[in-house]
Parts: sequence; C-alpha cells; structure tokens
Amino acid sequence: MALHPSPPVLEIRGLTKTFPRRGKRPPVTAVDRVDLTLEAGEIVGLLGPNGAGKTTTIKCVLGLIRPTAGDIRVCGWDVRTHHHKAIEHASAVLEGARNVYWRMTPRENARFFAGLHGLDHRAHRSHIEELLERFGLTDRGDEPVINLSTGMKQKVAVVCALVKQTDLVFLDEPTLGLDIETSLELRGLLRELARKTRRTIVVSSHDMDVIQDVCERVVILKEGRVVADDRVDSLLALFRTRAYRMVLSDGLVGEVVERLARAVSGLSVTARGERTELEFELPAAERLYEVIDIIREGGAVIETITQKEPDLEEAFLRVINDTGSEGGAGA
Ligand SMILES: Nc1ncnc2c1ncn2[C@@H]1O[C@H](COP(=O)(O)OP(=O)(O)O)[C@@H](O)[C@H]1O
Ligand SMILES: [Mg+2]
Repeated sequence: MALHPSPPVLEIRGLTKTFPRRGKRPPVTAVDRVDLTLEAGEIVGLLGPNGAGKTTTIKCVLGLIRPTAGDIRVCGWDVRTHHHKAIEHASAVLEGARNVYWRMTPRENARFFAGLHGLDHRAHRSHIEELLERFGLTDRGDEPVINLSTGMKQKVAVVCALVKQTDLVFLDEPTLGLDIETSLELRGLLRELARKTRRTIVVSSHDMDVIQDVCERVVILKEGRVVADDRVDSLLALFRTRAYRMVLSDGLVGEVVERLARAVSGLSVTARGERTELEFELPAAERLYEVIDIIREGGAVIETITQKEPDLEEAFLRVINDTGSEGGAGA
C-alpha cells in the first residue's frame, strides 16, 4: 500500500452502518454514506440530535464495530486491513467515561493508558503529572476513580485519552451529565488543548453551546447523513444574513401578516404600543425586497431594520428542519 506523503488524519468514504432489528422490522441505518476528511490540528464538532449516528461513526473509526460499507483511514492506515496501525493513531473518550477503570486511581489509569501504547511510563511520568495538574486532579490522583464526582471521572477519562498523544482524539459527549460550572471548565481546557497542540480533536455533542465554544468546524449529522459541514463562523454568518428584526410605525392588518407569513419563515409579530415589531428569517437574503414591498403595499412605515445575532442553536435547528428525512441536502 503506497502512502501519501502526509495523508489526512482521518478519511471516511461512504461509511454506512446498519443494525438488524428483531422480527420482520427493517434494519436501522445508523450511519448512511458519510464522507468526512479531517486534517491535522483541526478541532471539529460532530453535532446532531440523539440517534443521529455520532457514536456509531466514532465506534467504526476506532474499529469497535464493523461498518456495513465504506472505507476509513486513520493517518493513511485502513482501519479494516491495518487495524493496529490505524488504532495507534487514535484515542477516545466514549460516552459515560466507560474507558477508565473505576477501581484504579487516576494516576494508575493514566500510567496504564500510556503504557498500553508502548510508551515507557517513567519517561512519561512528568507528562502524566502535567495533565493531572491541568485537569485539577493532582490531589485526588491516588483515590479510586469510583470515589470521585461525575465531573472528575469525566476529566480522568479525558486525561486517559490525551496521555497517549495520538494524532486523533475523539471526545464523545464529554460534558454529558456535568453541572454547568464543570462543563464550562472542561470546555476551557479543551480550547486550550486545541490551541497548544497540532492534534485533531473531534468533539461530539448534542449540545450546541459546547460545540460553539470549543470548535472551529462543525459537521452536522441527521438520521445518519451529513447535512452540513462548515466552519462554525460561516454557518453563523449564513444565518446572520437571513435573520431580521423590523420595527414598523403602525400596525398591520391580518391580510398583510398572512402575505408576510408566506414569504418568510418563523414570523413573529408583536404589538408595542403604536408600533409593531417583526422577527423573521428569509429563505434567501435577496427576498428582503419582497418583504419591504409587502409592508409598503400594506401601508405601514418601516422605522428600523436590524439583523439578528444568531447562535449555533438557531443555525442547527434550521439545518435540521430544512433537510428532508431522506437527507436530500447531502454534504
Ligand atoms: N448496537 C446497536 N444495535 C442496534 N441499533 C443501534 C445500536 N447502536 C446504535 N443503534 C441505533 O443507531 C442509531 C444511531 O445511534 P448513535 O450512533 O448512538 O447516535 P448518537 O450517538 O448520534 O446519539 C440510533 O437509531 C440507535 O438506536
Ligand atoms: Mg452518542
């Protein structure tokens, strides 16, 4: 097998995974023809509602489950034909911190995970101590993990995934079940980590705040398909040009409201004394002229037009709702 001089850290082509179901029910397609390429140093959010196929995708990359179809390469190594080579380059925190040994201490876990991958743990002892320190685990480093809080368990799991120093790190729902304070702290640590290393980090979550906070690029899965793959900034910008708030100096009659509702989406009309406030999203930016015409013809005067600051949650919901169940939008 000829290797490209520097192949992508992760290359997924046509990944499909179906699970059989009992009885005569048709199989579930958990992942449906997914293509994805990640380069060194990227921090990528894998976003999608529950059941979208995030965990299944990650498990296929790690070789924990066998894909129904498609190819996966980690640093150029085919996960199917060169499993050990591929897996050497990847590590993961799976949902619920299941990757750590709860009867061992954080220090023992970290040494174990470092040692597993052929590293001399003496040489790596300072690296382990540095990680424990950064994650606030130094003082609790010799207590069995089972005695630690949920947040600390999660941090131990992240430390164990990082200690191997692999090119590719998956964090599957890293903030699930954490209180908001611990979640914010962990996000800060992940941002710092992404800044300081050239490692490729994939954070899967169904929480947009986590992704918006930590990631530069976002891949949105819906029903096993990639429905968006873009920089977080661009995705937000796309919606910034479409989400508007208008203040009118008068009220609007029902017929005009009905015409508006047909031209835009998510229309809300609020009376504020003499004035009327409208909020809506345009299907395309140039449709703004049409909206202005409808209002003029209705006899109202527009006082102000402002663009709303969208957040990733709104963008996400739009992407999810705009794509049909057959995943017609594609990647
Ligand atoms: N081992 C399994 N057996 C049967 N169905 C599964 C299995 N694992 C996942 N699924 C199904 O595949 C779909 C995707 O699940 P998953 O990858 O866990 O989604 P996510 O991580 O995005 O919430 C869901 O419909 C889920 O019920
Ligand atoms: Mg999951």
